[in-house]
Amino acid sequence: MAELTIIHTIQELQTLLGRNQRQGKTVGFVPTMGFLHEGHLSLVEQARQQNDIVVMSIFVNPAQFGPGEDFEAYPRDAQRDAGLAHDAGVDILFMPTPEEMYPQEGGIRILPGSQATELCGASRPGHFDGVLKVVLKLFNIVDPDRSYFGLKDAQQLAIIETFVRDFNLRTKIVRVPTVREQDGLAKSSRNVHLTEAERQEAPAIQRALQKGALLVAEGLSAGEIEQQVAEAIVTNSTGSIDYVSLLAYPALTKEIDQTNEVIVACAVKFSKTRLIDNIIIPLKG
Ligand code: PAF
Repeated sequence: MAELTIIHTIQELQTLLGRNQRQGKTVGFVPTMGFLHEGHLSLVEQARQQNDIVVMSIFVNPAQFGPGEDFEAYPRDAQRDAGLAHDAGVDILFMPTPEEMYPQEGGIRILPGSQATELCGASRPGHFDGVLKVVLKLFNIVDPDRSYFGLKDAQQLAIIETFVRDFNLRTKIVRVPTVREQDGLAKSSRNVHLTEAERQEAPAIQRALQKGALLVAEGLSAGEIEQQVAEAIVTNSTGSIDYVSLLAYPALTKEIDQTNEVIVACAVKFSKTRLIDNIIIPLKG
């Protein structure tokens, strides 16, 4: 498949994919909410290397936005996205409408477990219920061999890995590292909502997380590390802290004695947007 095929309905997608899957072709899946950047394209690059067919979905999922969150303001540009997807080597771009994905409200909810109680799960109640709902629907629609998720959304990735394991879903989850601007800011669709001054300051987040990693190596307590990281962010930017947390990864609990890796994760609010970032730190011994 050299050309990009854009599809808006589930039936058309399944007909096309079914034909290919019956011929034994493997499918790599990159679910997104669009407004593509190099982070998404690195997911495609990896999917391209490992599968015969690469499917990307672009769907700004209303179910994962709470009241007062940025569902309406979430950046969208379907034409630009189609060009980028084509150039990156996506074969099939699935762009359903909300009516196609949610034709009626059946009231079934999927409730994630303890991994969703901290970080964004605490500040955005119901967010991960909505993520799991759309991800399950997309997995059922696409039936991918492999699905690609970025480590920038490390909590989302950890919850989806558990979901796939607990419910014996067929797809394999592939973790892809965060892609950053040259100054360290994590690539995000929401970065366009930063003012020019905020854009200059925002790399302070990554620098603070790096400092957090050094403090972990020095053996400071979680509380001290969280406090110093938060201080470094507010001292060097106008952002206000939603959370800074040090947890075991991927369990996302405060019990870090038995874990191989910890995460220092944060969410920072700027005037028109909220950014998340994290650093995952292997523990020695
Ligand atoms: O990470 C995202 O962009 C979204 O949460 C996802 C996985 C596409 C579900 O809407």
